Amino acid sequence: MKRTLLLALALGLPAFAVAQAPAKPDAAARARDLVNQICAACHGPDGTSATPANPSLAGLPADYITTQLAHFKSGVRPSPIMQAFAATLTDEDRVALGKFFSSQTPKPQEAKDATLVRQGQRLWRAGDADAGLPACSSCHGPAGLGIPKLYPRLAGQWADYTVAQLKAFKGGERGMDKEGKDVHGRIMHAVARTMTEDQMRAVAEYAQGLR
Ligand code: HEC
Ligand code: HEC
Repeated sequence: MKRTLLLALALGLPAFAVAQAPAKPDAAARARDLVNQICAACHGPDGTSATPANPSLAGLPADYITTQLAHFKSGVRPSPIMQAFAATLTDEDRVALGKFFSSQTPKPQEAKDATLVRQGQRLWRAGDADAGLPACSSCHGPAGLGIPKLYPRLAGQWADYTVAQLKAFKGGERGMDKEGKDVHGRIMHAVARTMTEDQMRAVAEYAQGLR
């Protein structure tokens, strides 16, 4: 815009002619409209989902969200539901939606099963050396807050969703696309490969109660 203005002045054109050129639609405002019209129904208007099958998005790293939306669109991360919603999003929308949800305040949740929480805490902090399972805390943080830009927050996430993703990583439905584009998902495939369903339930329950 500045360059156009300078050019206009250099050419002796009136500056108001440039100022009246159609404004670029505000990406942040469009993201808010998309959230209210589409995403809020499943992820909540502020990124806190009311349903265990739908992940909460508040406080996830912006770049992580942007990448997942691109992966849904291209099918690198298969999801019949999300592919349909991601299909019409532009590069700009994906960036703006990432920023929007990332800047929302996550709502803490409670864990329900104390036995699972104890088992989960051990795995979260120390992993399982015999099984070659690394500590989740080394990449997702001691309190599950994630690390920008790669490592998603797991604190307060619905346990059912977390278990479903661990199963998808283990089975290779997520992270192991044929063209090898999901370089970060591959890391989690390697982590989840050795996990039992009991271990998945335990860490997921523990993470749901982290804050
Ligand atoms: C009909 C319900 C529904 C709607 C509407 C919806 N989503 Fe989703 N979304 C889901 C489900 C279910 C998943 C989990 C997909 C899976 O199993 O991997 C998901 C996953 C995601 C993820 C990945 C989260 C993570 O932790 O990896 C992002 C990002 C996302 N949705 C963004 C959006 C955005 C942005 C919109 C609006 C344009 C939207 N969703 C609309 C149901 C929905
Ligand atoms: C070596 C680093 C590393 C370790 C250790 C690790 N993760 Fe991850 N995890 C990642 C990365 C990177 C991603 C993002 C993958 C992507 O971009 O799709 C991820 C994603 C996830 C997701 C998907 C979150 C979402 O919102 O969809 C879950 C669930 C998860 N990890 C659980 C765990 C659990 C449980 C452990 C411990 C058993 C663990 N991770 C250990 C690096 C790691």
